[in-house]
Amino acid sequence: MNVTVNFKVNGRDRTAQVEPKTTLLYVIREDLGLIGAKEGCGKGECGACTVIINGDAVPSCLVLAAGVEGKEIITIEGIGENGRLHPLQEAFVKYHASQCGFCSPGMILTAKAFLDRKPDPTEEEVRDVMMSNLCRCTGYEKIIEAVMAVANGEDA
Ligand code: FES
Ligand code: FES
Repeated sequence: MNVTVNFKVNGRDRTAQVEPKTTLLYVIREDLGLIGAKEGCGKGECGACTVIINGDAVPSCLVLAAGVEGKEIITIEGIGENGRLHPLQEAFVKYHASQCGFCSPGMILTAKAFLDRKPDPTEEEVRDVMMSNLCRCTGYEKIIEAVMAVANGEDA
């Protein structure tokens, strides 16, 4: 039996009819067409599916869509403003923090949720947080540089 869920995505009210076992990742990608969130492992280990729910970076492959009633979700498609990339997106470009790019939406959203709470982190704190998202390409140095550049207020 389907359940009706009302929630917000990137500031816009959305309604979805979902089966009890449908994941938020599925709804975001297949029903809403927001394909920035990726399915990597499908079991909460890689972070490729990360979205921000009520301020927390969360693996959307582990979230049941039926449970997001009334919640505010931000995906990578929602963080730029006025046609401009978000500073973290600009920094990822500038510091070559993406190679294949599969991990980048999740990385950027993890970094955003973290910096929104802690705008002046140490590099060690950034390293700890970013380890929750797996990248097979960059070796992480460029990713850490990009996040630290934003934390330090450098222009991307
Ligand atoms: S696909 Fe969700 S954590 Fe890997
Ligand atoms: S850039 Fe390829 S997995 Fe991170």
